[in-house]
Formats: sequence, C-alpha cells, structure tokens
Amino acid sequence: MAQLSPARPVLVVAAPGDTQDSILAAVTAQELEAEVIVEPERLAGPWRTAATVIVADDLAEKVAARALPHREDVFLVGQRTDLLSAWSAPLAARVIPLPEGAAWLGAVLGEGSSRTRAPVVAVLGGSGGVGASTLAAALAQLSAARSPSGAALVDADPLGGGIDLLLGAERVQGWRWPRLNAAAGHLGDLRSYLPVVDGVSVVSMARGSELDLAREPLAAIVGSLRAWHSMVVLDPGRSGGLGARESLRLSTRQLVVVAATVRGVAAARELLASTDAERAELVVRRGRGSLAASLVGEALGRPVVAELPDEPGLVAAAERGEPPARGSRRRYRRAVTALVARLQAGVADG
Ligand SMILES: Nc1ncnc2c1ncn2[C@@H]1O[C@H](COP(=O)(O)OP(=O)(O)O)[C@@H](O)[C@H]1O
Ligand SMILES: [Mg+2]
Repeated sequence: MAQLSPARPVLVVAAPGDTQDSILAAVTAQELEAEVIVEPERLAGPWRTAATVIVADDLAEKVAARALPHREDVFLVGQRTDLLSAWSAPLAARVIPLPEGAAWLGAVLGEGSSRTRAPVVAVLGGSGGVGASTLAAALAQLSAARSPSGAALVDADPLGGGIDLLLGAERVQGWRWPRLNAAAGHLGDLRSYLPVVDGVSVVSMARGSELDLAREPLAAIVGSLRAWHSMVVLDPGRSGGLGARESLRLSTRQLVVVAATVRGVAAARELLASTDAERAELVVRRGRGSLAASLVGEALGRPVVAELPDEPGLVAAAERGEPPARGSRRRYRRAVTALVARLQAGVADG
C-alpha cells in the first residue's frame, strides 16, 4: 500500500553543480530524502543501506576506486557520455543520460522507494469484448474506495475507444495522455493534473490519434502514479503494440479475463502463447452455459483468482458513462472487491 513506512533515503554521490541539482530535483519531486555525499571516502555505510544509489558522472571514477561491494539499484547519471560508458560496468550501474533521462530518473527513484509497493495490475482480455476494460475500471474504483490515496487507471489501448468514456471521465477537467506523453523532465505527484472520478485518477489516451507510446514516459508515469496511489491498473488492450508490451513489463500482476466457453478458452490460449504474460492469473467471466472455473484454469495451466458474474446492467451503464462499480450491481461488485483484497494482500505478503 502507498504509505506503509517511511522511505529509505536515496544516496546521491555528486559534487555541487548542474548534475547534482538535477538529481536532487528528481528526488524532491518524488518526496524522498537524499543523503548527499561529495567525498567518496565516506561512502561505505550509506552504500549498503540506501534504497537507491545515484552516482554523478564526474565522481564515478573515484567511487569505482573504492571497490565497494556489489549492490543492486545503482544508477550512473550525467551529461558526459564518455564517462557514462566508461564507468557503467565497473560500478555495475545502469546509465541514465541527462537531460533526456530526467523522467526516467524520477521513475527509478519512485520504484526504489518503499512508498511504491502499490501493485501495478495489467488487465488483459483473453478475447475481444470479454470485459477487461470494465474490470480494470472496477478494480481501480473499488481499490480507491478502500484507501484515502485513491487508485490510478491508465488506458494504454490505442484501439479501445477510451477508458475515460467508461468512467464518464471525459467530462471532467484534467490532462489527457498526449500532454503527459510530451512531458519531459520530472514527474512528481500527478494527481492534481489528472481527471479524478470516484477517487480514480485517469490517464487516458486521446481517441482517434496514432500515439507512439515511447517506453520512457509510460515507465515514468507508472512510477509516479505508483508512489501516490494504492493501486495502479493498466488497460493494455489487445493490439499487442508497444504500449501493451510495456504495460506488461511494468506490471506486478497480470490478469487475463477469460470467457468460460470453449472458444473463450481457445482464444485465451492463443493470447497467452503470443504475449509476455508469463505471470498471468485468470479471471473467469461467467455467462450462459459456461464451463466451470476449475476447468478453465486446468485447460490454461494458470491459477484462477476470481470469477466474474454476468451482469447485464453493465452494458447500459457503460453507454451512460456510469462507472461499473457504482449502482446496484452487487454481485459484480462483490467479486471485484474480493479480487482487490487479494491483489493488495499478495503485495503485502511478498
Ligand atoms: N461481467 C459482465 N457482464 C455483462 N456484461 C459485461 C461484463 N463486463 C463487461 N461487460 C460489457 O461487455 C462489453 C465489453 O466490455 P469491455 O470491458 O469493453 O471489454 P474488453 O475491454 O474486454 O473489450 C461492454 O458493453 C461491457 O459493459
Ligand atoms: Mg478494452
């Protein structure tokens, strides 16, 4: 959950100057604490305990000379491409070039901090029209209902018709995806820029335009959303494009909604074979004459984490722009609430 414990500090090894300023701006934007060290002789303790280590290019050589023990989450940051490539391997550090990597740096800091245990849940449809986007919206809504920090819903499906329509969010003021996609630099708390419906911050792609979801902005946006919400739900759609692949990479849980029919199972099998959803868990969507959930799970060789009832009222609700978990759809809401609890518990256990 978002606010479980105070974040461990970020270790910043950088001399005063532009690079140090950029790093500290990114740390501040994520509301994290920085411990700044200018003399690498004093590194040994904080090197072990920091959540994330950021080394500026100009001090990289001195840090490497200390022969510190190997650790994860070390990043080498700066403008000097020669220094970045020379010292990346000795420090076992990933390189973030500035200024173009500023948003990426923010995401990395967000991921490393303990505030960011919020699950990132990608919801895929095993076949078209099975209710994946509806489930994504309902998960975000019911997760928001349990937590004061709210939830976030990211529409990464260029062909999906816009998840903001499903929530009635297109009538609410706020940024849409294209402006975020163009946003360079640091992403702090995005909540104040986004339309919010029922406690759900909605990041929505523009309808009707071809968008190149470059990898860095989606990672940066999810990183930021994750720091500020109790759950981030991604709707990658079925186009299999860059945004969909990146959504799967960024997710901590992958749900595939499967229609409990022979054809639904066959379609889901194709989907599982053709995408990188190695960790997929199944949500079985029931309907008339449907197969038992256990049979669906066996056929696909994946665990079943929820069963969704057929809820005819959802169709009209979607047309009216009424969020799926509002209104009197009790059985559907009960099933999704149980799934939210399971997703949150899974993160806390792990
Ligand atoms: N559990 C359900 N029972 C009945 N209809 C549903 C259910 N879930 C979604 N729907 C309806 O099915 C249609 C497709 O839903 P959508 O969530 O857009 O599917 P997908 O994203 O998988 O293509 C919508 O009209 C929606 O209201
Ligand atoms: Mg959809």
